[in-house]
Amino acid sequence: MSYNYCFHAIVFLSLFISFVECQQFSFEETKLNNNNGETGIGERWAVLVAGSNTYSNYRHQADVCHAYQILKKGGLEDENIIVFMYDDIAFAGENPRPGIIINNPYGPDVYYGVPKDYTGENATADNLLGVILGNRRALTGGSGKVVDSGPDDTIFIYYADHGSPGCVSMPHGIPLYAKDLIHTLKKKYEANAYKSMVIYIEACESGSMFDGLLPNNWNIYAITAANPEEGSYAFYCDIEEYGTCLGDVFSISWMEDSDKHDMSQETLQQQYEVVKRRTGFDTPSRSHVMQYGDTSLGNQLLYTYIGRINPQITNRTFINRSLSVARKTVAVNQRDVELFYLRRKFENAREGSQQKIEAEKKLNSEISQRQYVDRGMNHIATSLFGQQNGLHLLEYVRPAGQPLVDDWDCLKMFVKIYEEKCGTLTTYGKKYTRAMANMCNFGIKEEHMNMASTKACSNEFSTPWSSLQDGVQHD
Ligand SMILES: *[C@@H]1O[C@H](CO)[C@@H](O)[C@H](O)[C@H]1NC(C)=O
Ligand SMILES: *[C@@H]1O[C@H](CO)[C@@H](O)[C@H](O)[C@H]1NC(C)=O
Ligand SMILES: *[C@@H]1O[C@H](CO)[C@@H](O)[C@H](O)[C@H]1NC(C)=O
Repeated sequence: MSYNYCFHAIVFLSLFISFVECQQFSFEETKLNNNNGETGIGERWAVLVAGSNTYSNYRHQADVCHAYQILKKGGLEDENIIVFMYDDIAFAGENPRPGIIINNPYGPDVYYGVPKDYTGENATADNLLGVILGNRRALTGGSGKVVDSGPDDTIFIYYADHGSPGCVSMPHGIPLYAKDLIHTLKKKYEANAYKSMVIYIEACESGSMFDGLLPNNWNIYAITAANPEEGSYAFYCDIEEYGTCLGDVFSISWMEDSDKHDMSQETLQQQYEVVKRRTGFDTPSRSHVMQYGDTSLGNQLLYTYIGRINPQITNRTFINRSLSVARKTVAVNQRDVELFYLRRKFENAREGSQQKIEAEKKLNSEISQRQYVDRGMNHIATSLFGQQNGLHLLEYVRPAGQPLVDDWDCLKMFVKIYEEKCGTLTTYGKKYTRAMANMCNFGIKEEHMNMASTKACSNEFSTPWSSLQDGVQHD
């Protein structure tokens, strides 16, 4: 909705409400809610991204659908909310409630009404960058919705999925590299295309997307589920009917907080404190919620970005079919959820059944695949740096405040070389992007990486788990 239209609508409504009762007054509030509360202050925009696919990653799309419901209830219009999700969960064969997605064992359906802007093969990193920039010409497929924002507008970006040092996955194609995200934010800033921006990222090593990269003078405030060198955690993993996790700790923490409280009374800093506590202290497995960029924006109200729940469109229809939730809900490291899911499937299958055999095959294949990547990377590192230094290089973490890598093109190239010689880096294997970044930082050249990868993986080509053969995208 344009600024002008909004202005006229408000003038018109102000005249109108003097003649009508409270019912219509709420309608006026709906209109105002899309605004920042004052005439001419701008619109709220939001971009929501679930970076994974497949049922075992149920939780990321559940997180993002839930975020949509919060924004929608907050008064944002669909035209201002742009959603990236693979959209293969609601009607997945394994979903015990076809057509419904929940983000909490007792929660309502969050799939209802979610716009399908960039789904399936259209949910790519390039489209995401084009959408943020408001550049329709950069898009391939999808709804064509972009953040068409101006200097008075606010932007909220929320991402949930697997990450690894320096990048976060996308449902289709190559991951989103920190450098490319930062570059796009810089262009958006230089185009004077927003007033202020808030970014929430849930992923393993999500701090590495901003640490040493996001300056504090772009009016952008970011929080991440984890610091640059640790995992983030999945949650609500113990529901027998589902056999997979329904949410992630950081994500459900900010969203359940937003559901409960009046966002016109709560600041970003206050929510950060709540989320930090729940993510870092209240669960046995913990990660450190981090703040980056312009932290002075922490004084702003969440209302400025995600609106405030409008009672008229609140849909809190709880579906409660007495799920069997274990007494103590464990959090599972995101990088290990696939293993957790397959092991659970194997354990729950009936002894001697075909499902049991299938489940065991898949579990063993996942374990072999992990060992294959570990072996390959060990081999590459030690052949480049020798036994001792090679192992050190795999573990080495730069001090906080320094970006992961100086030459991002080198990192991208090394990932590409590895994948050409050894097969797709799976969710688990992506943990080695830091090792590859270290190789770049220590001056390893393309031809050396090429040789080392060839040597490490040439004998392993015929392995059944090589994704070059089965073409399976695990992330
Ligand atoms: C509320 O959600 C349910 C299911 O999720 C849906 O069937 C119903 O139409 C929704 N009601 C409103 C008013 O949006
Ligand atoms: C991708 O976008 C195109 C163009 O909008 C659309 O026709 C196609 O159905 C989309 N694919 C998926 C999987 O959504
Ligand atoms: C949902 O069902 C469970 C088990 O029957 C019960 O303990 C819980 O209180 C219910 N929750 C709601 C919100 O009704």
